Formats: sequence, structure tokens, C-alpha cells
Amino acid sequence: MLPKSPFQLPNSLRMGLLITVLVGLLIAALAWFQIERERRNDLEEMDRRAYILAHQMAYPVQVALRLPDSEAATVLGSMLEGYRRLIGLAIYRTDGRLVAAGKGAADFADVLNQVVDRALAESKDIVETRRTADAHIHLLASLIRTPDGQPQGVLAVLHDLVSLNERATHRQALFGFWIGFIVLSLLILTVAGAWLLYDRPLNRLAEWMRQLRTGEAIAASPVELPIARLVTESDRLAASFRAARSAHQAQARAVVRADNVWTRDRLRAHVVDCLRGGQLLVVSNREPYMHELRDGKPRLIMPAGGLVTALDPVLQACGGVWIAHGSGEADRQMADARGRLAVPPDDPTYTLRRVWLSREEEQGYYYGFANEGLWPLCHLAHERPVFRASDWEHYVRANRRFADAALEEAGSEPAVVLVQDYQMALAPRFLKESRPDLAVGIFWHIPWPNPEAFRICPWAPDLLRGLLGADLIGFHLQQHCNNFLDTVDRMIEARLDWDHFAVELQGHVSRVRPFPISVESWTERHVLTGVELERQIAELKARYKLDKGRIAVGVDRIDYTKGLTERFRAVARFFERCPQYREQFTFVQLGAPSRTHIPRYRNYINELEALADDINWRFQTESWKPIRFLVGHHDGVTVHAFLHMAEIGVVSSLHDGMNLVAKEFVAAKEDQDGVLILSEFAGAARELSDALIINPYDTEQFAEAIRRALEMAPAEREARMNRMRRQVEENNIYRWAANFLADLTAVPISTSTTQEVA
Ligand code: F6P
Repeated sequence: MLPKSPFQLPNSLRMGLLITVLVGLLIAALAWFQIERERRNDLEEMDRRAYILAHQMAYPVQVALRLPDSEAATVLGSMLEGYRRLIGLAIYRTDGRLVAAGKGAADFADVLNQVVDRALAESKDIVETRRTADAHIHLLASLIRTPDGQPQGVLAVLHDLVSLNERATHRQALFGFWIGFIVLSLLILTVAGAWLLYDRPLNRLAEWMRQLRTGEAIAASPVELPIARLVTESDRLAASFRAARSAHQAQARAVVRADNVWTRDRLRAHVVDCLRGGQLLVVSNREPYMHELRDGKPRLIMPAGGLVTALDPVLQACGGVWIAHGSGEADRQMADARGRLAVPPDDPTYTLRRVWLSREEEQGYYYGFANEGLWPLCHLAHERPVFRASDWEHYVRANRRFADAALEEAGSEPAVVLVQDYQMALAPRFLKESRPDLAVGIFWHIPWPNPEAFRICPWAPDLLRGLLGADLIGFHLQQHCNNFLDTVDRMIEARLDWDHFAVELQGHVSRVRPFPISVESWTERHVLTGVELERQIAELKARYKLDKGRIAVGVDRIDYTKGLTERFRAVARFFERCPQYREQFTFVQLGAPSRTHIPRYRNYINELEALADDINWRFQTESWKPIRFLVGHHDGVTVHAFLHMAEIGVVSSLHDGMNLVAKEFVAAKEDQDGVLILSEFAGAARELSDALIINPYDTEQFAEAIRRALEMAPAEREARMNRMRRQVEENNIYRWAANFLADLTAVPISTSTTQEVA
């Protein structure tokens, strides 16, 4: 780097000087041009005057020239004398002889003679200016002609140019003064402007960056920066910087905490501590146990989806009440008058409180606003969100209904309320408006997009205010926390504390934290093991004709965000590239139909079935099909058996908050053997870096990952799987719940009343 010159002028002064010199030169050039133009105008005016005078005098001079010299002088007499700027006139014969002259004109006889001679010689009028030792004069020698056009003599008209020169000098002085004034003012203004607009804010920015680097506490970046993007970008820079710092601190804490594995019992004891006598309430749209009608009889199912998978073990460990929409056909039949029942039905440990919604409410709130609006809004899967005012009204009303049910369950006792997911964004505020003393946390199970994406929702500010009713807002990833704070920053008037990842809105503080969700181990669930498991696997293989060769499996709700078409295409491409694997390898997709009242979801099932048929038709043999697409609801025992039997687990989400199937696959590999193919766009990819990470849109790479998984050396497969299993075991769902509850209840609850929403 070059050494800095000690005499370097400040930028504002340099810029001011540069602008001033350039503008000064421009004005001076314009002034010079103007002065010159006016001088030429004055001279033309003088020419005009001389010609007019010559014209007026032509007749008397013609008459006088017909007379002898002495008479001519007498006839013209005083007409030849000057007045004011006119010095005088003189008359000459065609032989150049002076006939008569005014007194003033006689003083310039020499000059006059020369000009008159030229006029006679060239036989035309001559106009000139001349400088003598002590004068500056204007001369017109005008030829006088007889009526038949013959030269008869010359009339000379002399004007004094002194006054013209005086005017020009005066103008120069005036222009000089104004140029000086303008240049000086400009210098002052540009220097001051540049200092105010650039030097000062940039110096502040530099100071702020220094503080950021050295870790001194500061609220936000300076706001008066000259370019708006500089403000946003510096804010983001600071956010990332702080996020990195806090992630580092969190990691350091996690290392200390990860001393051993969390279990159901350990969580139970921990929750008793956290609740301090209060009860635990969970509020979500999806219920953990649903009663459907099968052949006219109620049948119990556990709905597919990460939320239920994650939360049910927590409630089973801790007890409490789970408030959720009773959406099953036989749900009313199986609950008491208040919509309550003890679950799990075969070994009850907690209460499920079902909230009833009419068809219209469910359509507007759940299918409409939540799943046609918020779901595509938060998942960047190129599906256009739809927002309808009527859906929003249902969403507001439904959130109030769920909050009211939770308040009813809480009674007047202390309670900790864990609100779940994007269907419940307004519930935290509704809860706090009635009971500011409740500890309310919300966990957002799906991604939070960047502010540009989120702000297209017409009710984005209401959603943010709703969420900010919570004391703790959890996301899977730090990136989602950053996006959330960025969105709050851009969309509502709230005070952000990036150092502590907190938002203060009307006196209430919400903390924002990442809590990567997880699963419990399969051994704690009622799944088969040992010989029973082997028998079940054999049965499934026989039923679905899977006894030929090796197996990969995918387990998903049938949702366009899961990248199922991309997955099927990759399988097809794999068989194109590696035909030797025909009959040697089968891909099984378990697909639970989901949200089928929404046309996009219905069409997606049809699209997938057609694609699977097409691929099967291309590659199948008499006894083998490359893809087995098993559409239907598969219980936990079946899902576990498939995950256990498959060598390869495939998760290809186009965008996913976490994706628990990835973790369930790892957890199901009790034999430590198997390869996970995992989309880089699923949150799980941050933790399961030993998976084969793919971009689901890249079919070639995806197909290659299948080949790689099939051909991976056993030692490498085992090593990778071991590391992933350790990660999932140590960071299981009990640790997730313990961390969330500990964080939520660690600080005194912010009880300031909040404002009405929507
Ligand atoms: O990962 C959890 C999740 O995707 C939730 O966001 C969602 O509520 C659930 O699984 C499944 O969706 P649904 O409740 O609409 O069936």
C-alpha cells in the first residue's frame, strides 16, 4: 500500500475545488462570449446610425456639391458639426479634395483622407474603426452619386467610440464580479454539501464498522448514508456478522451441552423445572391423532408431516394439552363434549383438545390462506401464492378460536404455550393480549424467505405483529432468523437488537433463535425389531415385488415442494446412464396424499403417477419395475420397515425448513449401513453433511449420486452413516424441546400489553 500523503486535502474540499474550477471556467467562457456579442451589437448599432445619417444628408450634400466649394461650405454650414458621440461630417469631391468639414472632423483629416481615397478608388462605401494616439473612432465614407448613378463626391461620418469602450469595460467589471460571487458561493456550497452528504456519513460508517469489528455495542448502522443500498447492505453485513458471532457462541454452548444424549425421562424432569408448576400447552393446526371412518368405523391414524413426528414424543414425555383442529371424519365421535380425549389412545399420557371448524372456515383458513398463500410464499419452489381477503378473514378468526381454546385450557393458572407453525401466526398475539403473563413461544416449521419474497403478502405486517406477540420465535436455521429480522426491519416500526437477536414492539420483547428440529429414535416408538422386523420386511418385499436387487426409498407427503418429479426423472436418467442396474435396483416412493382439496396438490398426484407410469413403461421388464409409487397413508411401523430395508434414502426437497425424513432414515439404519441422498435446499443438509448432497434441479448430478450411493465402498458408507447417526442421536427431539423450553422460560416474561391485530 502507498503511504498516505500528509497534505492530502479532504475529499469534500477536493470535490468542491474541482467542481468550482470547472463551473468557473464554463461561466467565464460564457461571459466572454456574451461581452463580445454585445460589443459587436454596439458596433453594428454605430454602423446603422452612421448610415442613417449619411442617408439623411445625401440630398443636401448632392445639392451642395453642384455648387463651388465656398458656396457648398456655406450651404451645409452647421449641418457638418458634431454633437454627443458624433464627431462631425466632411464632404469631398471625386478627386479627393475636401470641400467642407465640421470642426471635430477636421482634427482627423489624415485618417479621413485615407478612407475617402479608398472609397473613391473602390467606388463603394467604406466603414472602419481606427485607433489614433488619443482616440478611437468609427468612420463611414459614403459615396454620393448623381441621380444617373455617377460618383459626385464622398460624405464622411465620424463617431467617437470612447463611450462604447466604457460600456464594454463596465460590463467586464460587472461580469467579473458575478463570476467571482458565483464561484465562491459554489465552492462553499459544494464543499459543505459534499461534507454533509459524503464525508460525514462515510466517516460515521467507517467508525461504525470499527465498532462492529471490535465488538462494541451499537444499535444499527448509520441511517444517513448517501446510497440507500449502502444502508441495507451494511445492515445485512452487520446481521451476518452478528449471526456468525452468535452462531459461534451457540456452537460453543452446544459443545458444552452435548455431553450426553437427551432422553424422554431427562426431558420430563427438565420440563418440570421449566414449567415451575404451570402446565404445558401446544397449539397447532394438525392434530397428532386423527379418527377417520373406514367401513363406517372410526380408525386411528397419525397424520404424516414433520410437526406431528416431532411434537408427539415431547408431549408423551411431558404431558399437557395439545390443542389442534379436529379434522378427521370421526373426530367428534371419539372426543368428549369439549372436544377432549386422552392420547395416545392405547397408553394415554396427554390430552388432545380438538377445535372444531366449519367446512367454510377450514377452506378459507387452512386450504386458502395457509396452504395456497403462506406455504408457497415461504417455500421458494416457483409456485405462485394466492391471497384472498375472505381467506384472510377466516385465518384471523381461526387463529382467535385456537387461542381462545388455549386460554380456556390454561384457565387462570400459569402456563407455557408452544404455538406451532405458519397456520398460527396470529395466535401468539391473541394469547398475550388476554394473558400477558403466559410464556408464549412459536416455532415456525417451514423456511422464512427473504423480505423481498415475504412482503408480497398483503397482510405481511399483521402476520409479523402476530408473531411478535410471542416471547420466543424459533426457526430451524440461523438463516431463517436473519431473514425474519430483516423482514421485520423492512416492514414494521419495531426496535431491532441484532446483537441479541431480539425485537421490541410496543414494549414487548421477542427473542428470535434457531432450533434445528429433530426426531426421537425408532426404538422408542412401537415399531418392530429383530425377527419380527425381518418378517415384515420380507412380507413387504413380496407384496410390492421388491425381492429383486437393491432398494432406495423416499417417504413424503405428496407436495410440490418435495421435488418428487425431479426425483423420478433422476431415477429415469440413472437407468439411462447405467442400464446394467435394470432389475438390480428399485426406487420405492411412499407418498401420503396431502391437502387434496387444493387443485395443485390433486394435479400433482396425477402428474407423478403419469410420470412413474411413463418411466416404468420405458425401463420395466416382465418381472420388475424401476419405480414403485405407493400412494396412501402408511403407518409408522411400515415407514420404519421401508427405511430400514432401503440401502439408500432419498430426500430431494426444492425447499424445506428441515425435512425430518432425512433424519428418520438415518435413525432407522440401526445396522449403520446406508447412504442418504439429500437436497442442499433442505435444512437438514446443514447438519447431515455426510449425506450425498445434491441439487434436485440438476438431473445429471442427481442420477450420478444414485450411482455413487450404489457403488460406495462399504467402509465409507459405514463411516458416513456413523457420523450422521451420532449427530441425530445427540441432537434428538428431546434436546430440541429442552432447548426451546429452557430458552423460553429462562428470562422473565415480558408482560407489556400489546396492540390489537387485524
Ligand atoms: O414440517 C412440518 C410440516 O410441513 C408442517 O409445516 C405442516 O403443518 C405439516 O408438516 C404437514 O402439513 P399438513 O398439516 O397440512 O398436513
